[in-house]
Amino acid sequence: MNDHFLGFGLGLRTQHFNDVLETRPDVDWFEIISENFMVAGGKPKYYLHAIREHYPMVMHGVSMSIGSTEPLDKEYLQRLKLLANEVQPQWLSDHLCWTGLEGVNSHDLLPMPYTEEAIEHIAGRIMQVQETLGRQLLLENVSSYISYTESAMSEWEFYSEVVERADCLMLLDINNIYVSSRNHNFDAQTYLNSINPDRVRQFHLAGHSDYGTHVIDTHDHDICDPVWELYRQALHRFGAVSTMIERDDNIPPLNQLVEELQIARDIAAGILPRQQSGKPVAALEAR
Ligand SMILES: [Fe+2]
Repeated sequence: MNDHFLGFGLGLRTQHFNDVLETRPDVDWFEIISENFMVAGGKPKYYLHAIREHYPMVMHGVSMSIGSTEPLDKEYLQRLKLLANEVQPQWLSDHLCWTGLEGVNSHDLLPMPYTEEAIEHIAGRIMQVQETLGRQLLLENVSSYISYTESAMSEWEFYSEVVERADCLMLLDINNIYVSSRNHNFDAQTYLNSINPDRVRQFHLAGHSDYGTHVIDTHDHDICDPVWELYRQALHRFGAVSTMIERDDNIPPLNQLVEELQIARDIAAGILPRQQSGKPVAALEAR
């Protein structure tokens, strides 16, 4: 069994702060967006600390731009480290992507060209970040809508090689694999089969918008059946992996997300051995 299995979590969203504190929902852990709490004080920090007293947390960032050719933002990394000291998360993640060039932030998580040169570049930067933060980093696969003519390998070959060379970990976004498999016409099962289970620490699940000819990773819908099916396949391959639902737009009441999370629990209970799908001891003790 995966020693790091936290159970089933949700992304912590501002709209749910009060409900979480008042109703203490049946959620094993929360993932926070790091940048939302990299401030000195105020309401977000108040809720962060109050909720942290009752739930384990992980930190998820969106602006490290680990794949960029610009220098690493040392000030950002120091602020991230300070927040991690405060929150004491189980782990910390960002995306395998770049977000801008020459000081301009595109606010998009842009895919990398899948080349040896890019592997070398990004692995070196990950090692620098891990040294600065004093911990292993999880990197998430992004959904993509474009590809580069320079790419010399598949996304999964690139991703696997980066994490091995940098000795970091993977946050596998099941929805992103599905979205990219539709947009680039590859087999999602082939993707899963090529990933080293020892590197996988967390799963993301989310909804998307399906336009027939292409799929956009909008995080504003319930999780659809093909993504649940891919989640089943991921559980068969990787076993018990901490799983959470990301919802960023069209956010429903908290109890609706807790119900959707129950679907993930039920699927896992039907696939994993009993001792792996139940609530982990750590999550219960943290209440
Ligand atoms: Fe994600």
